[in-house]
Amino acid sequence: MVVDLRSDTFTMPSREMLATILTAELGDDVWGEDPTVAHLEALAAKKLGKEAGLLVTSGTQGNLVSNMTHLNSGDGIVLEAESHTYLNEAGGFSSIIGAYPFLVKGKNGAMNPKDVEEILTRPYNVHFAEPKLLCIENTHNHAGGTVIPKENIDTLAKIAHENEVAVHIDGARIFNAAIASGTPAAKLVENADSVQICLSKGLGCPVGSVIVGTEEFIHRARKNRKILGGGMRQAGIIAAPGIYALNNMIDRLAEDHMHAKIIAKELEKIPIKLKPVETNIIYGDLSKTKWTASEIQNRFENKGIKVSRMGEDLFRMVTYLNISRSDINTVVATIPEVFQ
Ligand SMILES: Cc1ncc(COP(=O)(O)O)c(C=O)c1O
Repeated sequence: MVVDLRSDTFTMPSREMLATILTAELGDDVWGEDPTVAHLEALAAKKLGKEAGLLVTSGTQGNLVSNMTHLNSGDGIVLEAESHTYLNEAGGFSSIIGAYPFLVKGKNGAMNPKDVEEILTRPYNVHFAEPKLLCIENTHNHAGGTVIPKENIDTLAKIAHENEVAVHIDGARIFNAAIASGTPAAKLVENADSVQICLSKGLGCPVGSVIVGTEEFIHRARKNRKILGGGMRQAGIIAAPGIYALNNMIDRLAEDHMHAKIIAKELEKIPIKLKPVETNIIYGDLSKTKWTASEIQNRFENKGIKVSRMGEDLFRMVTYLNISRSDINTVVATIPEVFQ
């Protein structure tokens, strides 16, 4: 048996989740006639305290559709320097929207409001692109699955709105942030204009994301989704597991967080320096050790455990639905054998 800790995108849908597809009422969603999609969109909007939702194919498409709806070609987009949108979405904000990135280096993924304010309050100058959108990633993947605190989001959103800049939250793992911080997701995003949530990560769906915002925003986003080829027909087969996930799979994320902490504790005994472990992601920094990430990846692989190499000296482990307590025990027992 392989224990696959590469990503929470490897989750497999449960039988109960798959069963929802068989009984889902379907229609052509491009025509606005799939009741299951409509149900999911309304449910996601409600969970996040927004007016309306839109089912999209992936987190990347959700961020792109949202950002495209906020921005015009040539506008500036403020992004955390290690954000997923900047690093891992194939530069779609530049190639497709034509947006110019303003990068802000955060601490544990959280941007300093002063740094953002400096960018947003620069006087008009013919040489500069004008920032029109601020993106916040919560939890922040590359920072270690860290929770961006509500106070930080609220301060950033206030500065953005005072300067007529919209706020988008890449909430691929917003429910991990909500569970870890004990703050309802709707509270965490209350000052954002749009949010993207992934169904296909910790929530365990095979595919899909939802974006939420005002009715007016979603109306325009729907057209942008169509432009990007994301208009899907009997998409209720994707939405039905999404409904199941939003109703049943959020609270159990606490288990993934607990599992990540158990692994982290064992790695710290070696000792391996870790990024803060606040949710379901563990980043190990090997720069001050005798090992490379490739070596460690291979040693784990030889013992039936898959981890991700995220750089020369960086490896990543992610816990999720299909990683059981017994898998965690296997990993814990293997760690001292691997780091020899
Ligand atoms: C923070 C964050 N945003 C967006 C995405 C993109 O999601 P998808 O893989 O569904 O395109 C990911 C994927 O890992 C992510 O970690």
